[in-house]
Amino acid sequence: MVREASKETIPLMRPYKMGQLELSHRVVLAPLTRCRSYGNLPQPHVAVYYSQRAIRGGLLISEATDVSPTAQGYQDSPGIWTQEQVEAWKPIVDAVHRKGAFFFCQIWHVGRVSTNEMQPDGQAPISSTDKQITSDVGTGMAYSKPRPLWTEEIPGIVDDFRCAARNAIEVGFDGVEIHGAHGYLLEQFMKDGTNDRDDEYGGSLENRCRFAVEVIDAVVREVGAHRVGVRLSPFADFVECADSDPVALADYMVRQLNMHEGLLYCHMVEPRMSNVDNRIPHRLLTFRKAFNGTFIAAGGYDREEGNKVVGDGYTDLVAYGRLFLANPDLPRRFEVDASLNKYDRSTFITRDPIVGYTDYPFLEDDHNDHSTIHA
Ligand SMILES: Cc1cc2nc3c(=O)[nH]c(=O)nc-3n(C[C@H](O)[C@H](O)[C@H](O)COP(=O)(O)O)c2cc1C
Repeated sequence: MVREASKETIPLMRPYKMGQLELSHRVVLAPLTRCRSYGNLPQPHVAVYYSQRAIRGGLLISEATDVSPTAQGYQDSPGIWTQEQVEAWKPIVDAVHRKGAFFFCQIWHVGRVSTNEMQPDGQAPISSTDKQITSDVGTGMAYSKPRPLWTEEIPGIVDDFRCAARNAIEVGFDGVEIHGAHGYLLEQFMKDGTNDRDDEYGGSLENRCRFAVEVIDAVVREVGAHRVGVRLSPFADFVECADSDPVALADYMVRQLNMHEGLLYCHMVEPRMSNVDNRIPHRLLTFRKAFNGTFIAAGGYDREEGNKVVGDGYTDLVAYGRLFLANPDLPRRFEVDASLNKYDRSTFITRDPIVGYTDYPFLEDDHNDHSTIHA
């Protein structure tokens, strides 16, 4: 149901220049693992999914994409370390570009959020630590005991990120987002709850962040700061990865990002919404003020909250996860203040190429995109 569109441009629909990229609005597709890339190879239905969400001047961030065979923790997540994977991504990125949107590839390594079965030759997953994820953390997985990386192995993993970034640019992505959030490998090093090392990658805040900083340095050198964004979630404790001083951690990392002139964006996840009033805590302003580039906030936003934070100058852009997943035309719905499709959590991560993926309806009055829904 479409209410009458306001004549005034809402803050979320204001254009924005991010580096050299002319964005037509502020509604970003958050990275969303979908596990439909069988055998780590992105499939034709992935092109349908992303191009459904692409409009001229929009910004899409891909689902987390494995940088190497040891990077995997979710079956059928896409990879970007082989030439075959690079070729498979190309038509997907082309489809998004044909719609006029910009597309960044989120590059990740899951570290200990994995199992021996997911690893090459049944090896233990690698991490900062040998501490295993103990409880049922809501992902439905039982994770294996990890093996702490030897100090001498770390440059090799840094290089995996560098190669993945190079591959992403070869594919035609407009840039990469380094996944430094949500309890995956880089965060396992950054956070003191999961880093119990006694080498130069453990102990002090500077030491714990060294690995992430080295990855950022290597990727920036490889593809240029203007093509690099970094995602951080200092306040999160997903998969038992938490820090005792998230403010100091975020502050340190933002200062590191600023050392790269022109580093494109910092994408930060809000603390979990309050159980009492279901409100976003809004703890990111200090970091937005400290960061020299574009700031993207994520976590729990709807139309009203998004308009408010862009209007107030709390953030430049807002990334939407679950709402964008369920509403392929989310920016348009926000623009005209239309009602939204409800997301179905049970189909977030399944192998189906259509259900819960490309079958969410578009606004009834928007005929342009209907053809792509069941393609
Ligand atoms: C199904 C699903 C998959 C996700 N996959 C990723 C991912 O690959 N990378 C990432 O950084 N965050 C991932 N997230 C987190 C989202 O990007 C986002 O931060 C989170 O959903 C909160 O935003 P929202 O309230 O707008 O949904 C995922 C979330 C969901 C629901």
